Amino acid sequence: MSRAPHERNSRLDPLFESILAAEDRDRCPLASPVISFQDSDESSYLSSIETAAVSSISLERRGVYHGEWAVLEPSLLPRHLARGDEAMDDARYEAMLVDRWHACRPIVLHGIVRPFLAEFVDEIASRDALRDELSKPGGLRRFLFEHEADLDPAFRALAKRASLFDRERDIERVFLESFAPNGRGKPIEDLWLKSAWLSTHDDDASLRLRFSFGSERDDDASRDVVRQRVIGDLAERLLPETSVITGHPALVPLLEKFCGEPVLFTQHIAYWNAKSGGALFHHDAFAEDALDDGSWRQLGVCYVQLTGSTAWLALSLDDLVLRVREFVDALTEGEMPWVKAQLCEGPRAPIGFGFERLVQLVHDTAACANELALPGQGILFALVNRGPEFTSFLADAGHAFVLAAGDAILLPNRGLFATCMHSVFCAGDETGYSLSLAMRPNREAPEEIEAKTARGRRAARSREHD
Ligand SMILES: [Fe+2]
Repeated sequence: MSRAPHERNSRLDPLFESILAAEDRDRCPLASPVISFQDSDESSYLSSIETAAVSSISLERRGVYHGEWAVLEPSLLPRHLARGDEAMDDARYEAMLVDRWHACRPIVLHGIVRPFLAEFVDEIASRDALRDELSKPGGLRRFLFEHEADLDPAFRALAKRASLFDRERDIERVFLESFAPNGRGKPIEDLWLKSAWLSTHDDDASLRLRFSFGSERDDDASRDVVRQRVIGDLAERLLPETSVITGHPALVPLLEKFCGEPVLFTQHIAYWNAKSGGALFHHDAFAEDALDDGSWRQLGVCYVQLTGSTAWLALSLDDLVLRVREFVDALTEGEMPWVKAQLCEGPRAPIGFGFERLVQLVHDTAACANELALPGQGILFALVNRGPEFTSFLADAGHAFVLAAGDAILLPNRGLFATCMHSVFCAGDETGYSLSLAMRPNREAPEEIEAKTARGRRAARSREHD
């Protein structure tokens, strides 16, 4: 006779139990819990993991080992360690998600787009071949040529040469013009698609295809809603599977509930995360915190996994400040002495100053948040991207998630200091295909608001010269 999970797990390892039961462990409702382990752990800890694990992942990114994770099935855990979702009704669940959204914490929705994948099975099946094509010289232009009929008559690829923003990673960029009806009646000529490697590492074949317009970086946060809408139209013609997000009957209303208004999906990116690849810690935010009253900022990013699997560390900037501090406090108490030595001691130590100053920095909340919001987390880069120690520490604090095909992760984002930090790994050997769409308010910004952006300033300058 089979026993109930709580009986089966009646002699759980105390460390396993304390990690999962910790009051401050982050718990995204209905997201599968993740816990870290290493082969040298106590056998009782490993056997406790085995009682509830449904899969395990060895994490490695660009030659750096980040440890081992086990994904747990809550129904196999005793009730006090499970997520406790059984008694949760829809209203309570949604309220918890709304709270997470406003706290800039990640929201994982397992299986939310799975029912719609069958509709795009042919498109999704062809994306491995598209990745291969994009990795070759001229591959992007050939892809656009093959899809001329899908673009016509609203869009046309332009022959003019496009310079590459990042000569090491960018593969190809092609400009397009739009005659779409929402283009205010005259062509928009500065739309572009770009194929790029995610890194320069020899073992990382991860690649992305980005849809945008105007000046790269300066216009990424543009409030030009007309162009942002045209980008959405262009992406759906070339990658029709984007509608698993944009046409989702439950996801879109949920996002609009979080945001309190209709949402525009734009700045599409198709990702192929390959073995040993992924993204280092970063945020998707722009310096919009102090710009106007906040009602025109980017709202966040929606990422869906369509094939393969990715492993994520994701947490609000505020939570990352607290976790970095806890980790440094543990080093102060003598834990993991090799980490302290490698980060802070010796002429080649990446932190760049002594441990005492690091302690001061992480105990100054504003200074630490400032540092983490810098591109590449400034002086804290080596600490937050440190594997396996810091990665395992964050996983045990509840900030790890594993996405399979059909899963989504939502990354709220309202500015540099109200954003969700994230770090991505390819989980397994398969190159996974995914889509990432930014969300913005679906309304036109008044001229004085648009004037504060780079595009607005350029437009004003050109009017002066007319
Ligand atoms: Fe990102």
